[in-house]
Amino acid sequence: MDKDKIVEEWKLLYELGTAISLTTELKKLFHVVLTAVTIGDGLGFNRAAIFLYNRPNNTIDGILGVAPDSIQEATIIWDTLKNLDIRGKMASWLINEINIEAQLNSNFNKIISQFRINIEKDTIFKNIYQKEAFIFNSNNLGSDDKIFKELNFEEFAFAPLISREQPIGAIVADNFYNKRPITQDDISTLFLFSNQSAIAIENLMGVETYKNMSKRLIEEQQNLIHQKHIFNLGRAVADITHEIKNALIGAIGFVERAKKLSDTNQQTYKYLEIVKKELDRVYNLTLDINRYSKGQNRSVKKQFDLEKLILDTVETLKTIDSKNQNIKFETSLSEFAKYLYGDPDQIKQVLINLTKNSMEAISNKKDGLIKISTYKEDKFIVISVEDNGGGIDVKFLPYVFKPFYSTKSHGTGLGLSIVREIVQEHNGVINLNNFVGKGAKFIIKIPNITEEEKDEKKDNGG
Ligand SMILES: Nc1ncnc2c1ncn2[C@@H]1O[C@H](COP(=O)(O)OP(=O)(O)O)[C@@H](O)[C@H]1O
Ligand SMILES: [Mg+2]
Repeated sequence: MDKDKIVEEWKLLYELGTAISLTTELKKLFHVVLTAVTIGDGLGFNRAAIFLYNRPNNTIDGILGVAPDSIQEATIIWDTLKNLDIRGKMASWLINEINIEAQLNSNFNKIISQFRINIEKDTIFKNIYQKEAFIFNSNNLGSDDKIFKELNFEEFAFAPLISREQPIGAIVADNFYNKRPITQDDISTLFLFSNQSAIAIENLMGVETYKNMSKRLIEEQQNLIHQKHIFNLGRAVADITHEIKNALIGAIGFVERAKKLSDTNQQTYKYLEIVKKELDRVYNLTLDINRYSKGQNRSVKKQFDLEKLILDTVETLKTIDSKNQNIKFETSLSEFAKYLYGDPDQIKQVLINLTKNSMEAISNKKDGLIKISTYKEDKFIVISVEDNGGGIDVKFLPYVFKPFYSTKSHGTGLGLSIVREIVQEHNGVINLNNFVGKGAKFIIKIPNITEEEKDEKKDNGG
């Protein structure tokens, strides 16, 4: 290269570098870089593409390809650019005048942007590790480099993108339309330019990661604020229901007294009975809400006798249901699931809520049956409650675990929400096998942690 040419080259690189450094958005930067490679007053190639090394996937990914779709289009573009006289104003032209939309829509870009190849394959992209640019032709291609054949690359320039000594990808360019031979000067200018570009690309990728990170941080912060609101709301609800409960206990007591004072045949007595029933209902609601807000409290976990807990609970529920003699209870409790690590009070609540639902589902049936089973499965203790009460209508399925959702005239809709809360608190999962028209089976799986394992955890924790 003679001296004049070198000065020219440095001027050019300076202008292109200015354009690159003034671009603040990564996506736009790819367009600026490739346009610089392809405009006649820039590096003057006919077509150019950027590929980036995707480190986590160990692949080379096509990012953007810039090329006119036909020789006619190419000629129009070149003629326009010739008349524009953009030399000296190239930086601002590159930043402001690129038709990004048109570049994205070219057939060339469509193929490039969908390209991905594993770097372990037989591909010329292995040359991203080289510290120089090359002129390649179709004889240099690897057996997996089908894309270059598909796009009819014959002679082309290959310049690795190197930033801080690390390969981040490559620029590939050729003179597909005017068939101008690629010179060593072209290659050395392209290599200088690709190094400038690589640093800019890497910087903007860093900015992008930083932007994403701070976005996620903000989202998380908002989540936290939201959770705190819910927590405070939960507290307020618990306080209020506590007050209501106390008032109700008083009121129910006086209604009982008034009932005793009035004649059972009197209309007053019947009214009082209705009042009592309604008050009982609200009282039960306060109990459920209380449990629901407690469900979010920390539980007191220990190894306990699950079998005994289930048998006791069934006995209690049977007596509650003394008027309904139709219901049969069946238990099938595995000796391998005799003990469970958890909060016995909360697990009892789970059993009561599920069994009560089953009892309500079969209350009108003659042959109502509730089966409670336990067994061990891998690292889980499984508890299931099954009934033949007709199951749940498919259209209600998405809602049954939602708080305050109930299909019962006197339901609180909190039973299953409490169950789910407690199961989650035990790091377990709950599943529903629903047999429409036949019955429902709720299956709970809780990790089986033995006392020793728990101690080990403590020890390891320091
Ligand atoms: N075993 C079951 N069989 C049929 N439907 C059920 C069963 N368990 C729950 N459901 C349905 O899920 C809804 C929500 O249950 P739950 O949260 O316990 O509230 P509630 O019992 O107060 O209605 C019930 O209203 C009912 O429609
Ligand atoms: Mg219920």
